[in-house]
Formats: sequence, C-alpha cells, structure tokens
Amino acid sequence: MSEVLLSRAGGVLELRLDRAAKKNALTFAMYGALTEGLAQAHSDPSVRAVLVTASGETFCAGNDIADFLKPRDDFGAAPPSRFIEALAGFDKPLVAAVQGPAVGIGATMLLHCDLVYASPTARLRMPFVSLGLVPEAGSSLLLPRRVGDAVAAEILLLGAWIDAERAKELRLVNAIVAGPGELAPFARQRAEELAACPPGALRMTRALLRGDAAAVRTRIGSEAAAFAQCLTSPEAKEAFNAFLERRAPDFSRM
Ligand code: COA
Repeated sequence: MSEVLLSRAGGVLELRLDRAAKKNALTFAMYGALTEGLAQAHSDPSVRAVLVTASGETFCAGNDIADFLKPRDDFGAAPPSRFIEALAGFDKPLVAAVQGPAVGIGATMLLHCDLVYASPTARLRMPFVSLGLVPEAGSSLLLPRRVGDAVAAEILLLGAWIDAERAKELRLVNAIVAGPGELAPFARQRAEELAACPPGALRMTRALLRGDAAAVRTRIGSEAAAFAQCLTSPEAKEAFNAFLERRAPDFSRM
C-alpha cells in the first residue's frame, strides 16, 4: 500500500504523506510516489494547484535514515534526487499544511512551496551537519535568501529548531492556523483560490517571483555532489547508526 495518498477535489491535487508511525520519514517508494504525483499534476491541465499535507502529528521527519545506509550507485538517478528535481522545476502553485516536526527534506521542500501554513505545533529543523551531511534541495541558496546569512548559519550549521512563531517571523511560513482541525481546510481553501486564478498569468508570475531557476538548479547539482560524497563518510555513518541505536553520536576521533 502506498504511503503517499493522492486525491483530487476540483482543481486541487492533494499529496498526503501517510507513514505516521515513522513520523512520515520518506522512503524511496514515497519519493517516487511524490515525483509521480507532481508529474501527474504537471501533465493534467485540469490540475491547477497541489496541496501537500501529512497524516498524524508530524509533517515529515525527512529522509528515512535507514535508507541513508543503503549503498547507492547513481545518486543523481536515485528517487530523492529525482523528487528534488521535480519539485524545483514544478510549474504550478504548491501549498503546504505543516503540523509538528518538519525535518530535513520535510523542511527544505517548504522553500519550494508558494504558500505554507503551519499549526502552532509546527517546528522546522535542517540538521544536515549534525548528520555528517550537507544541505539539499537548493536550501543552501534559498534559505539565506529568505532569512539572511546569519540566521541561515544558525539553522544550517547548528541545526537549530525553529518553532512556529519563529518560522512565521522568519517568513518561512505564511501564517499559523490555530484551532484543532483547522489547518488542512485553511490550506485547502488557499489552494482552491489559487486553482481558480487565470493559470497562464499565475504561472508567469510564479516564475518571475522565483527569479533565476538556472541558479537554483546549479546549486542543487553542487549540493547533490557534496551530499553523495558525505553519505559514505565515517561521520555520516556514525550519525545514522547513533540515530537508529537511540544514542548520542561521537565525532571526537574524526
Ligand atoms: N528515518 C527513519 N525512521 C525515523 C525517522 C527517520 N528520519 N524519524 C523518525 N523515525 C522513526 C523512529 O526510528 C521511531 O521508530 P520506532 O518506533 O520503530 O522506534 C519512530 O519513527 C518514532 O520516532 P521518535 O524519534 O520516537 O519520535 P519523536 O516524536 O520522539 O521525534 C522527530 C520525532 C521527527 C523529532 C524525530 O524522530 C527525529 O528527529 N527524527 C529524525 C529526523 C532526521 O534527522 N531526519 C533526517 C534529516 S536529513
């Protein structure tokens, strides 16, 4: 059974992460389903906006850490890289509804969304360095652009948690939607509003707002090369094993 649920209502395609028992950590199969969902939305003219949501109390705990330990021959062709490519190149509006933790790709994917709504429980983290890794999904370019170099260093070097209020202050989310059960309907309403807009003007405005798409693609490529190199390092292996063994990592002899 797929752990990404696709559903369609009017002009909005919803992609729901549905692996709550593992905090919606993304497996290769889930990346594949997300990429397929975006491709479907791209090629169907009646889909005018995509809404990303998650089951349970966590938006997404990032890449499945056990998968990080599996050998990969071709990093660029692997499902996470394909998803990042599809997300960065997606040409229709993306809206996200975030509750609870959004970690790693769960946080960096939000930098590619046009509108992000959060519940008061939302908290974002990009702990790449703590895991012996480097940022991905263009976040080393998009995050400083959004929050400035100093704050980006706190987030990307220290792996600091950003709670919902701070995320709003930093303009990483558009609004905090309080009230039980109100987040998803609120985000859906915004997605429906976007879906009702004239699609050509919307697409062109979105492209103008994003600016130089080639610069983002180039940065994603540089990050991917560094990420692939880090994945097999002793630092990263220690970090992944420590997470899976529920202990603190020890980098003192590296
Ligand atoms: N990969 C694989 N499994 C994960 C996971 C991940 N990224 N995140 C959580 N899980 C699993 C846990 O191993 C645990 O599995 P188990 O019940 O079989 O032992 C289950 O999900 C619940 O996680 P737990 O850590 O107990 O939940 P929590 O509510 O205490 O904390 C998070 C939630 C998201 C804060 C925490 O799980 C976390 O930090 N996850 C790792 C995030 C991360 O570093 N991702 C990679 C970024 S590049």
